[in-house]
Amino acid sequence: MLKSTLIKATQVGGAIMKEYFDKTFTISNKEGINNLVTEVDHKSEQAIFAAIKEQFPAHHILSEESGELIQDSTYKWIIDPIDGTVNYANGIPICCVSIGIEKEGKMVMGAVYNPFINEFYFAERDKGAMLNDTMIHVSTKTELIKSCLVTGFPYTYLDMPNGPLEVFGKLVRKGIPVRRLGSAAMDLCWVAAGRFDGFYEHKLQAWDSAAGFIIIEEAGGKVTDLKGEYYNPYQPGIIATNGKIHSELLNVVNGGEV
Ligand code: IPD
Ligand code: CA
Ligand code: CA
Repeated sequence: MLKSTLIKATQVGGAIMKEYFDKTFTISNKEGINNLVTEVDHKSEQAIFAAIKEQFPAHHILSEESGELIQDSTYKWIIDPIDGTVNYANGIPICCVSIGIEKEGKMVMGAVYNPFINEFYFAERDKGAMLNDTMIHVSTKTELIKSCLVTGFPYTYLDMPNGPLEVFGKLVRKGIPVRRLGSAAMDLCWVAAGRFDGFYEHKLQAWDSAAGFIIIEEAGGKVTDLKGEYYNPYQPGIIATNGKIHSELLNVVNGGEV
C-alpha cells in the first residue's frame, strides 16, 4: 500500500504539472529575486497531500511549499511538488515531482516523475531502482577527466571557500562537460540511469534530494555530503556519483585539482 500510494501521489502531481504547462498560471517570488513559486506548485502539492492522506492520514509530511505537517508517525513523506520550478515557469520541460519516504529516519522509498518525457523513477530499499519498467544502474566510468557531470547553483550567491563557481570553473577549465539542468531531482535520477557519472551541489533542501538519494543508492551509486560522510538530506551539500569517480570529485569539491 505504501508503494502504490507513493506511485499514485507522484503521478497525480505530475498530471497537474502537465495539465497547466501550456496554460496561464500565477508566478510569485519567494526570498531571492528568481526563486519562484507558481500556482501549479501549490496545486500539485495539494493533490499529493490528498493522495497520501486518503491512505495514511497519520503520516508525517515535510513539503516545500507547506513545511512540516507533523504527526506522531514512523513514516515521513518528503515532497517537492515541482522540482525545477524556474524551468516550469519558463516552459522548459526539465522538471518533476519528487517524493521520498523515510521510516524511522531512514530513506526507504523514493519516486521522481517527469510527465513531459514520460520518465517515472522508483526505488525501494534493497530492491533496486527502476526507470518505468526497466532496472537502472549507474555508469561504469572510472576517471573524472572522462566523466560527464551535472551540478546546480543556489538562488543566491554562496560566498564560501571552494564554492559553486570555483568548483565549476576548475572542472570546466579541464574540459570536463558539466551540465546545469535546473532540477536536482532530475540530475540525481540521471546519475542513477547512467547518463551522468556524477552530480554535486552546495546547497540543497531535503525535498530536492530525498527521492534521488535512494534511487541512486539502489542503482549502485554513492551519495555523500561534501566532506565524504554518508549523506544526510537535512544538511546542504551533496556529492552523488557512480561510486568510481567519487573520491576524485570529492577532492576537487574540497579544493583539490582535477
Ligand atoms: C531547485 C532545483 C535546482 C537547484 C536548486 C533547487 P526548486 O529546486 O532543484 O536544480 O539548483 O538548488 O532549489 O526550487 O525548483 O524546487
Ligand atoms: Ca526543489
Ligand atoms: Ca520545488
